[in-house]
Amino acid sequence: MTKPLSAKTIFIVKSTGTALQQHGVAITTRMYERLFENEEVKAMFDQSAQASGEQPKRLAGAILGYAQNIDKLENLSAPVARMVARHVETGVKAEHYPLVAEALLPAIRDVLGDAATDEVLNAWGEAYWFLADILIGKESEYYEERETEAA
Ligand code: HEM
Repeated sequence: MTKPLSAKTIFIVKSTGTALQQHGVAITTRMYERLFENEEVKAMFDQSAQASGEQPKRLAGAILGYAQNIDKLENLSAPVARMVARHVETGVKAEHYPLVAEALLPAIRDVLGDAATDEVLNAWGEAYWFLADILIGKESEYYEERETEAA
């Protein structure tokens, strides 16, 4: 079971929601630049959705939705189900999550500059892993089911 988020993290993530709303697409665009330095990971993504800016928008929307609902996660069950479905289709595994964390957190710093203090980045790191653990758990259930069916 994932450790619950601290009140402080919830406070910081919610209060940085406005900055993310303003800069969300810049942050996710920068995140993908960093992430796609890994060719294997790059190949998992539909590059036309990247070029059109659709994918950075979707991810920025997801991050913002998460920041706004971090203290009422029950509101996120439909978006989470959609992410899980898309991730399972494209073969996203637990081992990919550190790569996205290592691309996202520096991207927040690249775009927000000094506003992204260590405290803010630590809070987002904790929040990222909280959501990542939920996704990883649900995705691995799917993969296990699929293996059982195939056996
Ligand atoms: C907490 C972490 C993550 C969040 C919040 C997230 C969020 C999302 C969202 C919102 C979508 C779009 C779903 C839709 O089509 O409606 C998506 C798709 C996708 N995600 Fe993630 N994701 C995360 C982690 C990862 C990781 C670790 C990988 C692996 C490198 C990954 C790879 C993908 C791919 C390949 C797609 C499909 C993109 C396409 O259509 O080209 N995601 N994700």
